[in-house]
Amino acid sequence: MTTSTAPLPIQACSPAEAAREVAREIAALIRERRAAGRMAVLCLPTGRTPLGVYDELVRMQRDEGLDFANVTTFNLDEFLGLPPEHPQSFRRYMRERFFSRIGLEPAHTWIPSGDVAPAQIAAHCAEYEREIADAGGLDYALLGIGRNGHIGFNEPGSARDSRTREVRLHDVTRADAARAFGGLEFVPERAITMGVATILGARRVRVLAFGADKREILRRTLEDAPGPQVPATFLRGHSDVRLLADGVALGR
Ligand code: PGA
Repeated sequence: MTTSTAPLPIQACSPAEAAREVAREIAALIRERRAAGRMAVLCLPTGRTPLGVYDELVRMQRDEGLDFANVTTFNLDEFLGLPPEHPQSFRRYMRERFFSRIGLEPAHTWIPSGDVAPAQIAAHCAEYEREIADAGGLDYALLGIGRNGHIGFNEPGSARDSRTREVRLHDVTRADAARAFGGLEFVPERAITMGVATILGARRVRVLAFGADKREILRRTLEDAPGPQVPATFLRGHSDVRLLADGVALGR
């Protein structure tokens, strides 16, 4: 894979259409892997953007018998300093918004630990990379984009070859999280994130972006020279990537 000025393929669609399309692709992957006697390995995001996808997958389980028994998930990131039960932890988000609703085996769900001891963080990150590799790599990465161009918590300045690691959160990221935390002072300053290279290692990458808040960063993601100033630009050049975005985010 090379850093590339290749365009990012775009599918203009409503949030509801994007949720159905992504859920359909994930369901097809799960069924194809099951037929081959294998696990489907998903990379999953948090935030507002993927909620429609999770709702649609829950619906497919209920109405269409979609079976998640052969699914392993790796989340993109987690705040450091939060216990798993903290209302803003991504562990709790995933359990409430998705895992418990579909009865996913906790042993099949990987999320960086928010309460790992400081001395253990580097080893924990290396272990996360090993678990992804041992699972056979990521089949399908679903991503949102932050208003500062982050993917996962790969904040501006993140290198294309970065791996799972501890990061300092960018001011925009913390400001965007402040309301949920009830004030900026409660937002953690550090996090663990999969790296850019970890994400780019996924066999398929789908990026969702909706609404006016994402318009300016989408423009830069699509037009800027790829580089660490907008980490989402590194997605251009992946061999199977697609952006699903609504007309408002695309400025159309
Ligand atoms: P959002 O977050 O889905 O809440 O807009 C996206 C992101 O920060 O990656």
